[in-house]
Amino acid sequence: MREKDFDIKKPRMKFQKTERVPPEGYECANDFFEDMYMDKDMIWMGQNTNHLHGDTIANAMIDAIKEKTFCRYPAPEGFSELKQLILDDLGFEGLEVLLTSGATESLYLVMQALLEPEDNVILSDPGYFIIGDFANRFAGEVRYVPIYYPENNYKLTPKLLKENMDENTRMVILIDPLNPLGSSYTEEELKEFAQIAKENDLYLLHDITYKDFAREHFLVENYAPGQTLTIYSFSKIFGMAGLRIGGVVSSKPIIDAIKNAVVNDLGVNIISQYGAIAGLKSKPEWFEEMRETCFENQRLISEMIEPIEGVFLPVYPSDANMMAVDLYGAGINPKDMSNYLVGKKLFTREGEYTSEDFGDRYLRISFSIPTEEIKVFCEEFPKAVEALRTK
Ligand SMILES: Cc1ncc(COP(=O)(O)O)c(C=O)c1O
Repeated sequence: MREKDFDIKKPRMKFQKTERVPPEGYECANDFFEDMYMDKDMIWMGQNTNHLHGDTIANAMIDAIKEKTFCRYPAPEGFSELKQLILDDLGFEGLEVLLTSGATESLYLVMQALLEPEDNVILSDPGYFIIGDFANRFAGEVRYVPIYYPENNYKLTPKLLKENMDENTRMVILIDPLNPLGSSYTEEELKEFAQIAKENDLYLLHDITYKDFAREHFLVENYAPGQTLTIYSFSKIFGMAGLRIGGVVSSKPIIDAIKNAVVNDLGVNIISQYGAIAGLKSKPEWFEEMRETCFENQRLISEMIEPIEGVFLPVYPSDANMMAVDLYGAGINPKDMSNYLVGKKLFTREGEYTSEDFGDRYLRISFSIPTEEIKVFCEEFPKAVEALRTK
């Protein structure tokens, strides 16, 4: 049928997503990502993925493929061994795990299962906006609290939470460490959040996707049991982003409520589950070395940035595998910087991707890549600043 033979009806937009302007020269963001992905020489600092793994996880998956485990459906709620390994990794007892296709699916299901139109949700700006977009579909309001200030150490604080919440606040989102800045919470701060949550009957959504890159990390579930949802991902420390596996951990009544919202009723990718089991079992063998590489990488970046006038790192050291590089003082638009760096085979992300209010200030770079590649970045970045500087 030719186009003019029928009316193309535009559906009412039931949901709204944070709008992403496609990078220069692209009609849509997907085309841009595909181009980046297809370029084998591109140095991957634009997604917070991890490129430092050996073959252990890959080999476990290859074995699972050769045994044709994928011909059968997996157990719908996942392997018990994997769920137990996740609980052990967190040091939790008596809690339930729901496995999903990445942490992303868990985030969606949590919002769908627990939020009502009269609720509001608190999230920081900068932050990971996919979470806010999901919350927006089910709650009446998402309150983005501006946090890009040294006074509050570039994070949502208990004080800021109190100032921004009201009687309809139902959920507080703590991304810890924070994408994009790498700021993280002390045990004291988490205890304070827990106290506020208990007094006001709030859910605490603790997204710990980057926890293993932190120098120290604490779990708010230990202080607000029964009202915390811990979001767990295999994409970062385990380097399994393309395999789409993650989950949510919480008390049984909450997980039961979320299970009723499940879409992927026939279970999570079985090959990913074998990879995840191998990842958790082998973690003691590679964990420290990988962290050391990340600490060394960010040290090299910090050393390189230190003498550049007008450019600084708001949070250093970062407790994640990424950091923000503030370019404002040099009068450089982060978009121009990321476009320029793509030309040098360095894929980074402009701040707009993670902030409405401050996105014009910073570039986000991830550093869980081989140190040799970080050295290429350290060579190119100062030249890029001088080429683009307007101040
Ligand atoms: C804070 C945060 N949560 C969740 C995710 C997505 O995790 P997954 O790949 O497991 O869906 C990301 C990805 O960047 C993230 O930054």
